This record gives sequence, C-alpha cells and structure tokens, in this order.
Amino acid sequence: MSAVISTADSDRLQPSSAEDAEPAVVSLRGAVAAVGGRPVLRGVDLTVRPGEVVALLGANGSGKSTTVKSVIGSVPLEQGRLELFGRPLRKFRAWHRIGYVPQRTTAAGGVPATVREVVSTGRLPQHGLLPFRRKDRAAVDRALTAVGMQDRAGDGVANLSGGQHQRVLIARALVGVPDLLIMDEPMAGVDVDSQQVLADILRTEVERGCAVLLVLHELGPLEPLIDRAVVLRDGCVAHDGPPPRGVGQHALPGHDHVHPHADDHHHRTTQGLLA
Ligand SMILES: Nc1ncnc2c1ncn2[C@@H]1O[C@H](COP(=O)(O)OP(=O)(O)O)[C@@H](O)[C@H]1O
Ligand SMILES: [Mg+2]
Repeated sequence: MSAVISTADSDRLQPSSAEDAEPAVVSLRGAVAAVGGRPVLRGVDLTVRPGEVVALLGANGSGKSTTVKSVIGSVPLEQGRLELFGRPLRKFRAWHRIGYVPQRTTAAGGVPATVREVVSTGRLPQHGLLPFRRKDRAAVDRALTAVGMQDRAGDGVANLSGGQHQRVLIARALVGVPDLLIMDEPMAGVDVDSQQVLADILRTEVERGCAVLLVLHELGPLEPLIDRAVVLRDGCVAHDGPPPRGVGQHALPGHDHVHPHADDHHHRTTQGLLA
C-alpha cells in the first residue's frame, strides 16, 4: 500500500475500522448568518452522520431554509464552522455527493423547461461542461423512472401539478446518486399520491446508505424513517434528539392551538420537549 498522500487529500484520511469513526456528512458548529442584513441564524449546531436521517423542524421563519442553504454554501456564515464529509467548506469539492431539493415556490418561472431538462441539470456536477454521455442519459432515465415521471419527460415543468413538480426536483437530486440528500419541505403542497412516492423513494435511498437532511413542517408519513429531530426556534436549536414520535404539526412550535383535541395526551407529553 502506498504511504504517499497528497496534501490535498491529507484531511480526508478515514480510519478503516469502526463505522463510528467516519466523519460526519454535515458538521455545522455555531452557525451565525444574516439574510438581507437581518440576523437569522444565531449559533446553530447541526450534525448529520453517514446514513442518518435528520429532520429539521420549526415554525415558519425560524431559520430552517437558511440553515440548509448555509450547509450547501449558498448562505455564507458570519461566524461558525461548516464541514462536509470531513472537509472544511473551503476545501470541499465533491458537490456531486450532495443532492439538494430546494423549497418549492409557487411563482411560475419565465423560462420554459422540460422535465428531462430540469432533471438533467442534476448531472452538472458530474460532467461539468463536457457533453452529455450515454451514462448521464441513463442516469436521468433511472431517476425519472424512480419518481414515476418517465412518461412526462418531454412535458414542460410549468404544466405540472405541485406533486409532479416536486417529483421532478427530487429526480434532479437523485440523478447524481448522492451520499447526502437535502430536501426543504418536500411534502408541502404535494398530493397524497406524490407523498407516497416520495416516502418510498426516501426509504430506498436510506436503505442504500444515503444520509438525509429533511426540512419538515410536520413529521407526517416520513416519521418512521427519521432517526433524529432538530427543532429550530428563532435561529437557535431548541431541541436535538429523538423525533417527537406520534405527533403531528400540533406539537410543533408556531402552531396556533385554537381548537380542542379529542386526545390531548400526545400534546401534553411533547410540550416539554418542544416548548
Ligand atoms: N430573501 C430574504 N430577504 C430577507 N429576509 C429573508 C429572506 N429569506 C428569509 N428571510 C427571513 O429570514 C428568516 C428565516 O427564514 P427561513 O430560513 O426561510 O425560515 P424557515 O425556512 O424556517 O421558514 C425569516 O424571518 C425570513 O423573513
Ligand atoms: Mg423554509
């Protein structure tokens, strides 16, 4: 075995034995960030370990999207430290290992793009400016099939339903076969059929060992897949631990509790955790 290690790779050394010793996929420490001049993250710690499924929860405006955007380097940190796959952000180049599904907006884009075109952009980190090759096309076909959109490949994305649009964004994230999948509110505005497709896809990705960071408003049908929940409140971590099992959005901060519950038990048991 060669003992020669290039300088560039020296901080990527991985112990060969224990799985525990593998570096975290995401390690965010003391993240402070502002958006539009306004402080949004005020010291966020977030860890995602290999193969782990972490839900990021919290009320609207608590900083969930800003946190995941800082993880992908699109919101700069004013303070704190980010490592991806054991490398500091400034040295991290392996963006093909990360699939990102942004929070879907309802605003219609001005540029018409087909389903296949949008999914193909997910291969950009692999082939860069090189021409698209057969294996890129095959990867796009596989991702379209995985989300059940192969029949819609030539359709314009503007004509899709919310759930179909979300499936296209997920196919784009899967097309690079990532080791970390980041999804921002993937269930929002998605019909029940698409929610089921999404839960199935996620299970498949988790089974092959992909780590997942999931922004959710409520745990919902994805609950059984989730290993750990991090709850943000006002740009700070209010909870990091087991997911609040068996509860819906009623237990999450920011929910206006104005109606009576037939079964108030769950509510009481989780109030301390999330209060
Ligand atoms: N583009 C922006 N310009 C100004 N403020 C923003 C912008 N995006 C988000 N914010 C503010 O940052 C805070 C956190 O936003 P965000 O991270 O999107 O929260 P969440 O995803 O938890 O709803 C909110 O108060 C929001 O108003
Ligand atoms: Mg958001």
